[in-house]
Amino acid sequence: MDVSEAVLSRTSVRSFKATAVSDQLIKKILKKAFRSPSGGNLQPWKIFIVNGNSMNKFLKFIKEWKEPEAPAYDIYPPKLKEPYRTYRYELGEQMYSLLDIPREDKEGRLNQVLKNFEFFGAPCGLFCFIDKTMGPPQWSDLGMFLQTFMLLAREEGLDTCAQEAWSIKHLSVSEFLKVDQDHILFCGMAIGYRDENSPINNLKSERKPFDQAVKFI
Ligand SMILES: Cc1cc2nc3c(=O)[nH]c(=O)nc-3n(C[C@H](O)[C@H](O)[C@H](O)COP(=O)(O)O)c2cc1C
Repeated sequence: MDVSEAVLSRTSVRSFKATAVSDQLIKKILKKAFRSPSGGNLQPWKIFIVNGNSMNKFLKFIKEWKEPEAPAYDIYPPKLKEPYRTYRYELGEQMYSLLDIPREDKEGRLNQVLKNFEFFGAPCGLFCFIDKTMGPPQWSDLGMFLQTFMLLAREEGLDTCAQEAWSIKHLSVSEFLKVDQDHILFCGMAIGYRDENSPINNLKSERKPFDQAVKFI
């Protein structure tokens, strides 16, 4: 697989087969992904993997967690302006229409969102933390690492879905993983093999027109 193929075949997968992923394979991908660049070579990522047994224990722990949590950060700006608002809206509509869940079916839509907290059925999950003293440049380094990981995962036939949704459960996640107070959760990631028969995996998200993204001077 070349880089273009990895980039073009990566989509956010939201329904996985139960097929196990070995720790060795995840280790192999991580070792390469840690070659990602970062400003000043700070390598500000701190990664946790739940897989197999630890995944089962984690899912049970999260289900039983009853204490309310405030989100770790605002996933989107409080008043998302245009055209970003429309992009977000259109993604949601595209997704729910594939699933046949109409706008009025609030419970159906909520149940879909809640699948985030089961890693969409993936057998393996990754959590990415960062030291609380780090700022926007270092948070962007996390994105470098995460995309590198996701592309390398494609090379191994694996699929992924990055998940900021976990930021609303960051306290329980940190408690389970025993992460120290100096670190904050950025996101989770579901890792596994896509269920080809699941309609949600046919979602092909749009991109804004090329000329709106770039200007050649
Ligand atoms: C950092 C990050 C966090 C994301 N969080 C979630 C999430 O919590 N739940 C989800 O279903 N998708 C999540 N996504 C997936 C985006 O919705 C997806 O990347 C976007 O719609 C583009 O689609 P594509 O990944 O299929 O190309 C996230 C993506 C990124 C990069």
